[in-house]
Amino acid sequence: MVKSKLSFMFLAIFIFLFSSVLSRTIEKIPKTSVLDVSASIQKTLEIISFNPNSVQPLESQQKITTSPSLALKLYSRETLYKSPFKNYRDLTLSRLQHDSARVNFLNQKVNLATKENEKSLGLMAMNIETPITSGLNQGSLQYFVRFGIGTPPKQFYTAIDTGSTITWIQCAPCRECYKQTDPLFDPATSSYKPLPCASQQCQELQISACSSSNNCLYGVEYGDNSTTVGDFITETLTLDNSVFNNIAMGCGRNNTGLFVGAAGILGLGLSSLAFPSQINNPSFSYCLVDIDSTTSSTLEFGLIATSNDAITTPLIRNSKRPTKYYVGLTGISVGGQMLPISPSVFAISPSGSGGVLVDSGTIVTRFTPEVYNILRDEFVNATQGLPTAGRFGLFDTCFNLTSRTPVRVPSVAFQFGNVSLDLPAKNYMVPVDNNVFCLGFAATPVLLGSISIIGTVQQHLYYESVLMSVGP
Ligand SMILES: *[C@@H]1O[C@H](CO)[C@@H](O)[C@H](O)[C@H]1NC(C)=O
Ligand SMILES: *[C@@H]1O[C@H](CO)[C@@H](O)[C@H](O)[C@H]1NC(C)=O
Ligand SMILES: *[C@@H]1O[C@H](CO)[C@@H](O)[C@H](O)[C@H]1NC(C)=O
Ligand SMILES: *[C@@H]1O[C@H](CO)[C@@H](O)[C@H](O)[C@H]1NC(C)=O
Ligand SMILES: *[C@@H]1O[C@H](CO)[C@@H](O)[C@H](O)[C@H]1NC(C)=O
Repeated sequence: MVKSKLSFMFLAIFIFLFSSVLSRTIEKIPKTSVLDVSASIQKTLEIISFNPNSVQPLESQQKITTSPSLALKLYSRETLYKSPFKNYRDLTLSRLQHDSARVNFLNQKVNLATKENEKSLGLMAMNIETPITSGLNQGSLQYFVRFGIGTPPKQFYTAIDTGSTITWIQCAPCRECYKQTDPLFDPATSSYKPLPCASQQCQELQISACSSSNNCLYGVEYGDNSTTVGDFITETLTLDNSVFNNIAMGCGRNNTGLFVGAAGILGLGLSSLAFPSQINNPSFSYCLVDIDSTTSSTLEFGLIATSNDAITTPLIRNSKRPTKYYVGLTGISVGGQMLPISPSVFAISPSGSGGVLVDSGTIVTRFTPEVYNILRDEFVNATQGLPTAGRFGLFDTCFNLTSRTPVRVPSVAFQFGNVSLDLPAKNYMVPVDNNVFCLGFAATPVLLGSISIIGTVQQHLYYESVLMSVGP
């Protein structure tokens, strides 16, 4: 099948917008930051016993955009689905384990549209047999929105994902479906229309096939053995009282793996098939509450207002991974001192490896081993008087903060050119178990090359806006 090239004018910027000023030039970064140990621990206790029906909107939330055309409530996983874990330690271990599969997924070769893939999908119609390459799963997709699908609209929870381009939901009848909280979507009574194989939307799919009736089939494979395969269709979506007709999306007939609870995925990647492009409103903003928070926040579509509190940095295009959001990180400081790391370490190589991407589905920020080791060593060296604890999951630097509150820890800041993003202590000292906190960064496995990923722990409560323009 012929692949049409996605052509984007990349007028994109990435904005960190603060409600309090946390950005400053690199000379003014403080040496330490204060961690409210008991507040963090309190949240870990609350989330384990949280009743999913009692989620409250984030208080005093400012609108991000001047006049958002759409605003959806954004929920974290544990506010929707009762945690199956009896204690915070097991919840954290599960999250970290799934986070690793997510990193593999983001780092996979973009060009999955090999002859072999298409052949197996086409021949076996809806029965992908290729090895699975990566990860959307229970632990990694942490944020969900709810909106209407079909006519009349029925409400469904879907996970938002900046790492995915296709929007899909499970459809009845299923060959295989995982358990979801809402009843299955039944296209029989709806505005569902199959897309013909010759349609432009079908040709833009990375993996596709034709059914015997010449309708388009899609397939997505995720690294943790999760897959979704089904009909590529158009449907009517209703978000925040706005109705969008003819949105191309997947109607999943065979969905296996670790998707839990939600009906499917809202694709926010950089692609003409992603939801923002399809509604001709490619700018969107999100605010992520802490994954342990019991409040909701927002996902908004529409132009963002710039403000004096905002840090703006251009999105960078990686032609080898054109659907992902990369930013130009140039350095990291610890304890107010720039780490001795060349900015070139963070650059995208001509082969498309390396670079720093921002992801809504990765929890823990990853750096290459060489960068992570310098960061960790400086952090440990600059940390005074905190008893250490053993390693935990993918964290190798942990502290026992029993009966200590608050504590001072070395500051950590990301530098984007000449501006610096100072992280609040709670965005890098993460609770993992009773009174144990770990430095919330990790090294990318050596096998995965030199990619870095800014994860959601480091994005909490920053309004992040992606502004982009799709053009010829
Ligand atoms: C569904 O997909 C899985 C994974 O590719 C495959 O093993 C299974 O046979 C499929 N099931 C059906 C009923 O097609
Ligand atoms: C995927 O499935 C295979 C075979 O069942 C298993 O060996 C492997 O561990 C699974 N991978 C993940 C990430 O669950
Ligand atoms: C460790 O910190 C001390 C100051 O507290 C500093 O003089 C020394 O250079 C640091 N060592 C390393 C390896 O960064
Ligand atoms: C942390 O320190 C307390 C008191 O010093 C001790 O009782 C506890 O066992 C320690 N926990 C870990 C995980 O090291
Ligand atoms: C940062 O650099 C840009 C261009 O490189 C310049 O326009 C801007 O004024 C600089 N900002 C600060 C705070 O120095």
